[in-house]
Amino acid sequence: DRGGAAMTTPASSRPVGTGGRAASDAVLVTGIGELVTCAGADGTIAVDAAASVAQRLGLLRDAAVVAVDGVVEWVGRAVDAPAADRRLDLGGRAVVPGFVDSHSHLVYAGDRAGEFSARMAGTPYDGGGIGVSVSATRAASDDELRALLQARIAEMRALGTTTVEIKSGYGLSIADEERSLRLAAEFTDEVTFLGAHVVPPEARADRAAYVDLVCGPMLQACAPHARWIDVFCEPASPHAFTEAEARRVLVAGRDAGLEVRVHGNQLAAGPGVQLAVEFEAASVDHCTFLSPADVDALVGAAGTTVATLLPGVEFSTRSPYPDARGLLDAGVDVALASDCNPGTCNTASLPFVIALAVREMRMTSAEALVAATVGGARALRRGDIGRIAVGGRADLAVLEAPSFEHLAYRPGMPLARALDLT
Ligand code: NIG
Ligand code: FE
Repeated sequence: DRGGAAMTTPASSRPVGTGGRAASDAVLVTGIGELVTCAGADGTIAVDAAASVAQRLGLLRDAAVVAVDGVVEWVGRAVDAPAADRRLDLGGRAVVPGFVDSHSHLVYAGDRAGEFSARMAGTPYDGGGIGVSVSATRAASDDELRALLQARIAEMRALGTTTVEIKSGYGLSIADEERSLRLAAEFTDEVTFLGAHVVPPEARADRAAYVDLVCGPMLQACAPHARWIDVFCEPASPHAFTEAEARRVLVAGRDAGLEVRVHGNQLAAGPGVQLAVEFEAASVDHCTFLSPADVDALVGAAGTTVATLLPGVEFSTRSPYPDARGLLDAGVDVALASDCNPGTCNTASLPFVIALAVREMRMTSAEALVAATVGGARALRRGDIGRIAVGGRADLAVLEAPSFEHLAYRPGMPLARALDLT
C-alpha cells in the first residue's frame, strides 16, 4: 500500500454537487458490464509489477455494488449480489470510481476568451491575465459567484467528477479571499487558500507588504474556511512568487493549521518542486519543467508528495507536456487534475485530461484512470474516495461504453457522468 496509511479522512465528506444526501435505503447497482474498482481485495491498489492490468485496476466483469447512505457496503459479481431495497440496472455499461479533481479554481467571474485567442496567435502566458479575473471577481456579488460555482460543479458531475478541490485566488484582498473560500466551502470540503496566487495590480509597488498581508490578516480571516494553503511559486512569472516569498507563505499557513500544496514548475524549471517536498506537501502541481534533481526529490517523496499533472494547461497554453512517462517509470506518485480556471485551462473534463495523458504523455489508459481517481485522492490525502471499496464513498461514474479504455479511445465524446444514487 503506497501512502494509504498517510491518508486522513475529514470528519464530514461530501461528494461534489450534492448539498448533503438524505439518508437512503440500500441501493443495488447492477448490470455493470465492467467495474473498475481501483482497489484490490484488501482495499488497496495492487502495485506488484507482475500484476496484470485487470488486477492492478481491481477489474470485475458482470458486477454489482450495494450502497447505503452514500457508502459502499458490498462489491462483487452480480450473480452473488445480496437483496436490496432498490435496484438500478446499468445495462452492461462500465463503471469507474468517480473522478477526484484535486486542482481547480472555480471561484471567479468573467472570462478571458480574448486572452486565449491572443495566445493562440502567439502571445505567451505569464500569469498577468489573472489580474483581469481578479477585477471581475471582486465586482461580482456573492449570489453571482454562488450561481457560477453551482453551474460549474454541475458541469463537472455531468462529466463524472464526484470530488473537487476548489481554490481561492481571484479575490486577493482580505474580504474577497475570505468570501471566495466561504462560498467554495458551500460546495466542497477540499478548500484551498491561494491568497498567494499573484501580487495584485494595486500591490505591485510593494511586494513584501502584500506577502505580509497574505501571511498575516488575510490568512487569519481565511484559515477558518480552508483545509489547504497553496502558493504560485514561479520566479519565471513577474506576477507570481519567489522561493523566499513562497516559503514565508507556507510557513505561515502551516503554523495556522493548514496543510500544504504548491503550484510549481509550470512556466520554467524552478524551486517549486523542491520546496513542496521540503514542506511534505500533499501535492505539487504542474511539474511541467523538471530538473533531474526535481525528479529525484519526487521519487524520494513517494508516499508523501504527489506530482499532480494538469495537461489541459499545456493544451490550452500550447506548451510542452510534462514527462509523465518518466515520472511514472521513476516511481513518482502521479495524479491528473483539470486545473479548471479562466486563464490557462477552461475545461473541467477529466475524460479530456485522461485522453491527453494517454495521447500526449504516454500514460496507459489504466495509469491515467488511476491517476484521475486514486491519484487525486492521494493528492488530497483522502482514503475514502478514488476507489470503489467497502466502507468507502459510493461515488461512481458510469460510462456510455463497455470499457474504461473508451475514455481515451473516444476523446471529446459524452461518455462519463456521476451516478446519482438518491
Ligand atoms: O494553475 N498557475 C497559476 N494559476 C492558474 C492559472 C490562473 C489564471 O491564469 O487565471 C494555473 O494555471
Ligand atoms: Fe492552478
